[in-house]
Parts: sequence; structure tokens; C-alpha cells
Amino acid sequence: AKHFPYINSHMFTEQVAIADIAKQVKTPFYCYSQQAIEENYLSYQQAFAKQDALICYAVKANGNQAVLTTLANLGSGADVVSVGEIKRALSAGIPANKIVYSGVAKSESEIEFALEQDIFQFNVESEPELELISQVASRLNTTAAIAFRINPDVCAQTHEKISTGKAENKFGVPISKARQAYQQAASLPAIKVQGVDVHIGSQLTQLSPFAEAFARVAELVTQLNEDGHTISVVDIGGGLGIDYQGEQVPTKAEYAQVVHDALGDLNCQIVIEPGRSLLGDAGILVSSVVFVKHGEEREFLMLDAGMNDLLRPSLYDAYHDILAVDNSQTEQQAYDIVGPVCETGDTFAKSRKINRSEAGDLIAIMSCGAYGAVMASNYNARLTVPEVLVSKDNFALIRKRPSYDDLIKQDIVPDWLA
Ligand code: LLP
Repeated sequence: AKHFPYINSHMFTEQVAIADIAKQVKTPFYCYSQQAIEENYLSYQQAFAKQDALICYAVKANGNQAVLTTLANLGSGADVVSVGEIKRALSAGIPANKIVYSGVAKSESEIEFALEQDIFQFNVESEPELELISQVASRLNTTAAIAFRINPDVCAQTHEKISTGKAENKFGVPISKARQAYQQAASLPAIKVQGVDVHIGSQLTQLSPFAEAFARVAELVTQLNEDGHTISVVDIGGGLGIDYQGEQVPTKAEYAQVVHDALGDLNCQIVIEPGRSLLGDAGILVSSVVFVKHGEEREFLMLDAGMNDLLRPSLYDAYHDILAVDNSQTEQQAYDIVGPVCETGDTFAKSRKINRSEAGDLIAIMSCGAYGAVMASNYNARLTVPEVLVSKDNFALIRKRPSYDDLIKQDIVPDWLA
């Protein structure tokens, strides 16, 4: 893989051997390359250099403070979906005036916090949300800059669980009702109509759904301006998909061209909210083989990482490359590669050919930098795994493994049981 090459049969990232990290950190752990994150960010910046564009990293993809600080240092803004993500972004040094706040069910206290910070924009998903924002902003004697998230009713051609722009999805205001919604927004106190927002789904590997959605947005923006609003921002939602399994993903330049073609004449600032394409290929999950089990029909490779550490294969049948960290033994063998959790769904791959492996070997699950660590849980009383950041010939623990005590102490046994 691009950011995790083999050197003399040992997997590296930057100048650090993955096996050397494993000696200190103990598997399983997530490992990210700072350089890969930076390169991914800069490639967006370069692609959009000729447009007035603000890159707002989608914090949900990976909210680690070291990751956010890496992006903050490059000038990134943040797309957030909760008060927790606002706090993470601010704490990493991302200024409030580069924060856009998405999410379908923002609570009153979350809205209040965002208004107090004076964030750049609320991406409003419904009329009741708009009314609540207006109420809270009036009470605080401030103004909320808003965009409606428009549901353009296009097919994103991606996994149905991460497709968001069809009429039947819970997201956004239907495009047919948009003008009415903006009319209402303009009439409410403490609301400043600022933009239009759209996000049709994640892991898109084709440009045509983007083009279709942006064309509908462009038409709407023109109409809204004619209606007397001043639309100065178009937020185009998440970024491109990534190559998990040989997908041909368009380049950032091609994507930027589609944006320019559709929206370039509107005289608007463009906001992009990429997550996966900044972090995905910059991270791996490193695990050890606990046992090789010779089943009646299949060979099982049983890892110390499970579905609670990386949920994507169980939840979406997602494909991730799985590689031996030491590549010197090149004979191949087909395995069902599974975790230790007590569920059949705790399976990373079926009949997958990889290097013949034995207990103790290190295994890397690739392209796990986005939607990996953030979706982990403590199911089966398993400790969430640590995260490591590599930079040049250094690596640092950027999230420590909690202790079992930490885990147990979160619970409270009431007096009457003691
Ligand atoms: N903006 C909004 C409003 C979003 O809902 C999302 C992702 C993004 C931006 C970032 O999209 P990206 O650039 O990463 O495609 N857990 C799933 C992915 C869920 C994506 C949810 N929204 C997975 O593991 O595939």
C-alpha cells in the first residue's frame, strides 16, 4: 500500500517498521502516518487552489486530538456533528470561524454551545431545528448563520447504509420544499441566511452523482438569490471515496473540476467536508494471530482484534486488504480471518488469500484510518485499542490503552446493592 510499503519484506510507514511499534505498544493498535494525512490534505488544497474553498475536515472520521492538531496546523476547518466534536476541534486549535455544524438532531444545549462559540455555519436539517436555533439565538442576543441541508433526491451509488441523498433518507430538507424553508428562515429573528448545503453519501467513487446533486444545488442557489436571499456559501458535503479493493477513484483535481463546472459561476465560497479521503489510507489496524484453527471446511486465522475494534466489515460487509506485516514467507493460503468476539459477524474476511501465517505473526488490516478507531466499543469488556502516530523516524502513542480498572470504574453500583 502506498503509505505502508514493504522494505526488505518488513512493512514500514515513513521510516518506522510496524513490527518495532508492536514491540512497544502491544497489539492490537491503530497506526497512522502523519505524512499521509498531510499529503491527503494538501492534495485537496491544491485541487481547490483556484476556487475560494474552505476545507472542513469531517471530525467523525477520526477525532483523535493529534490527528486534529495535524490538520489544524495545515489550516483545516472542521465539520462537526455534536458538541463533543466541537470541543475536540476547538481544543486542537481549529478556530470557531472554520467550524460547520451538521447533524439531524442537534439538541438545545448543543445549539447554545455552538452559538456561544460563534461558529461559521449551522447546516440545518429541518424546519423544527431552524425554529429552535432561532429561539436560542434570540435568547442569547446573537445571530445564527445558517444553510439548509438540501436533500436533492439523487442516488449516490454507494452502500445503502452510507447513502444519504435519496428522498427516503432522514437527511435534509427536500429540494422541492427548499424555497419555502428559506422564506421561513428569512422571516425568523436571529437567523442569517448564508448558504446551501448538500451531502449525498460517503465512499462515492464516481463523479456523476456529485455532478447531478451540484447541478440541482446551483439551480436552487440562483432561484434563492432571485427570491431576495444572499447565498454566499455552498457546502458540498463529504469528499471522495477511497480505494479499498481496487476501485478506480477520480482524482481530487477531477472532483474540483466538477465542483467548478457546476458551482463556479455562483460567486460563492465553497465548503468541503472530506473525512475518509483524508484519513482512510493513512491508517492501519495492527493485530496478532492468536491461533490458526484448522476447521472442518476452512482454515481460520484468529486475531486479537475484533469487530469492537473495527466494525466496518461486520456492519457494512466492507472489504479491507489484510496483509502480513512480515512479508518474507510468500506462500499463500486462504483463511477466514476472524476476531475473538462471541459473534459470527466478528469476521474481517472470508476465504481470503494471504501469506501463510502462524500464531504470533503480525497482521495489518489496511485503510483503517477513517471510521476505524472512532467506531470502536467495549463490547465483550474489551479495552479500546491504542492509537499511534508516526512522523518520519518517530512514533508516539496518541491514545493510550485504558486499564480494566478504568473500564470497571465507569459503572456505579447503587448503595442498595452493596
Ligand atoms: N459531511 C457529512 C454531513 C457527513 O455525514 C459525512 C459522513 C461527511 C461529511 C464525511 O464524508 P466522507 O468524506 O468521509 O465520505 N461509518 C461509515 C461512514 C459514514 C459516513 C457518514 N457521514 C463507514 O465506515 O463507511
